[in-house]
Amino acid sequence: MRRKLVVANWKMHGNLGRNKVLLNEIVDGVHELQKAEFAVCVPHPYLFQAQQLLSGTNVAWGAQNVHQNEQGAYTGAVSAWMVADFGCTYVIVGHSERRGQFRETNDNAARSIKLAIKAGLTPIYCMGETLDEYEAGVTEAVVASQLDGVMNIVGIPLMSKVVCAYEPVWAIGTGKSATPAQAQAVHEFIRERLAKHDLDLASRMRILYGGSVKSINAAQLFVKPDIDGALVGGASLISQEFVAICQAADKVSGRKK
Ligand code: PGA
Repeated sequence: MRRKLVVANWKMHGNLGRNKVLLNEIVDGVHELQKAEFAVCVPHPYLFQAQQLLSGTNVAWGAQNVHQNEQGAYTGAVSAWMVADFGCTYVIVGHSERRGQFRETNDNAARSIKLAIKAGLTPIYCMGETLDEYEAGVTEAVVASQLDGVMNIVGIPLMSKVVCAYEPVWAIGTGKSATPAQAQAVHEFIRERLAKHDLDLASRMRILYGGSVKSINAAQLFVKPDIDGALVGGASLISQEFVAICQAADKVSGRKK
């Protein structure tokens, strides 16, 4: 049974004072939940603060990106080892905002994933179609090429250390979530595609949904058989909202291992 996982993606939000309040409220809100897993992916400068405030709690922390090279002359970039130095469990890779605004490709994502795993992190690999692609009916083709593009480089054995996230770009930050049935259909498609390579990998792979997840729609998403949790942007900045999403995941999660 796959345990549900709820991951906050703060994006470029926060400051020391606000983070402290938010993290403490999240810890208070989820400390009794034992079945699902929780994490907060913060901007790089706040990793130390996350480590200080979350160590010893049931909330893990992570980064939102790492560079595709180990080290070198890449001004402004951050390596997988740097974020691992701050006790991170997760790193988001291939988010649509990185693909769209920073021109990152499947190839970049694959290289970051390999390094992240080498540094001991669990990459959360994001896939998803744009509105134009959705309207053109090519969702499956887009997701398939994003999945294959990474899987071919990373390789099946290492893919078992990855968490996938399906995030339709048209649902991100728009308040317009995919319906549970729409999301389930794409998650099932991803799992079937994984199964063509390796049945065990497919059955173990956690596939998170992202895109306007809130307390009001979380439970309906989480009961779908192939939705193993959520990657939460806007709602993760409001502690009551994020905690409610975590509670919804915990309620339907499998037994603790
Ligand atoms: P959202 O963002 O919850 O604000 O739609 C999700 C994401 O981009 O990961």
